[in-house]
Amino acid sequence: MAEEEKFEPKIVAFTCNWCSYAGADLAGTSRIQYAPNFRVIRVMCSGRVEPTYILEALQNGADGVCVLGCHFGDCHYISGNYEAKRRMELLTKLFRDTGMDERRIMIEWVSASEGERFAEVVNDFTEQIRDLGPLPEDYQEKLSLIKGALEAERLRIVLGSTKRAFASGGVEEERYNEALYTIAKEEIERVLLLEALEKNGPSIVPELAEYVGVPKTRIWRHILAMTMKNIIEVVGERDHYMEYQRRGQ
Ligand code: FES
Repeated sequence: MAEEEKFEPKIVAFTCNWCSYAGADLAGTSRIQYAPNFRVIRVMCSGRVEPTYILEALQNGADGVCVLGCHFGDCHYISGNYEAKRRMELLTKLFRDTGMDERRIMIEWVSASEGERFAEVVNDFTEQIRDLGPLPEDYQEKLSLIKGALEAERLRIVLGSTKRAFASGGVEEERYNEALYTIAKEEIERVLLLEALEKNGPSIVPELAEYVGVPKTRIWRHILAMTMKNIIEVVGERDHYMEYQRRGQ
């Protein structure tokens, strides 16, 4: 009987120029064996990797994505790896919330002198993704949903001002991360709300609450914010509720 073909995952690795990319180089020049499944994308710092880059890699054929940066205290831009960690933690939570396996994404620290460690990290991650199998087809919709939320103006502003927020002092890390997660979840709900309006046409609050899967009170909050921003508008009334549609629909 012909041996079943073994699944070979495609993996994208964003590697920081100063540490992990040099670590990969060292592994190569030292002839340390590591899995050939990796497509390396060199970035100047792990902090330059936007969460949307990770999502795009998965949308475009990767089965797993990892970010490899300098150890804490070694980042050439001081806090880039802390930012990368914060973003990856946020993405991990959103993966969990939307029912995706968070083991498909990973962040690790590898220095320029750690050729062997680079090979170890690469081999372990490859094995993990091989065990998970190809990216399930239903992930595409979920990836788009998270991407839509991360591209929302409000979240981009918060993510882009993290460094300044901490530099000004008085910001508690845990609370900041929690706030970031709360905003991301709200944006996911707003993406779903717009999707409901697009698919079903003018809708009332109970219908939207059912589609998004949240209580009506949360839908009211979103409607208020989105009406003020001219994203949605009232187009009529039905069953004692206002009917809404996406502006310009
Ligand atoms: S320079 Fe390597 S993580 Fe920032």
